[in-house]
Amino acid sequence: MHCHIVPGVDDGSKSLEESQKMLRKEYADGVRNIILTPHFRYRMFEPSAELVQQQYEKLLAIAPSVGKDLKLYLGCELHTSMDMVDCLKNGTRLTMAGSRYVLAEFSGGDDKAYIKERVQQLKFNGFLPIMAHVERYRAVMGDLDFIEELRDFGAFIQINADTISGRDGFGMKRFAKKLMKEDLLDFVGSDGHGIKERTPEIGKAYEQVVKVMGEGYAKRIFVTNPGRIVAGGSNR
Ligand SMILES: [Fe+2]
Repeated sequence: MHCHIVPGVDDGSKSLEESQKMLRKEYADGVRNIILTPHFRYRMFEPSAELVQQQYEKLLAIAPSVGKDLKLYLGCELHTSMDMVDCLKNGTRLTMAGSRYVLAEFSGGDDKAYIKERVQQLKFNGFLPIMAHVERYRAVMGDLDFIEELRDFGAFIQINADTISGRDGFGMKRFAKKLMKEDLLDFVGSDGHGIKERTPEIGKAYEQVVKVMGEGYAKRIFVTNPGRIVAGGSNR
């Protein structure tokens, strides 16, 4: 539910060939439904909606060659801004797979007040904010009380697969474990960017979650919760 497999629109996959290899990797890891989330961030990644749609359709065309039961959906990793809600409402930015969920990215140094405001603004306007890789934000990392507060405000919490598996270091792995033990985690995304570097590693993360929390919990985080996004529903 968080990856950069749409080719040639951000700092993720550079070609259709690379995207196909990434899809193969995901499929081999057991993934059957993928929400593709190209970046949108002012002054850094501003692909036009037309280009994203066009590249997404190319991926749809090759998906059956990877697996007949592989389903692809389009979303966006939306860097938060003051006009974000207007853009979501008028359709110039995408929600997740046409649902009310929005994958919201913050900057590493954003303060608590700003983060809370953006979450509340999304919620107030009928959207369901998902905090993209929450482990990246200084105001959030290590402050489980604040994470709980954000969830009470209606935010969903996502961390990256590499944080869970330990590929991003021991401190990150420990944070992921705490989050799971406190039952504050909603989603895990690969945040995969390529086939050589920052590869999608959902399989490894899934195994680790089963090890730490058991199969039932892993199914909830990797299957049931993201399933609600594509089904267009929510438990909140
Ligand atoms: Fe990302």
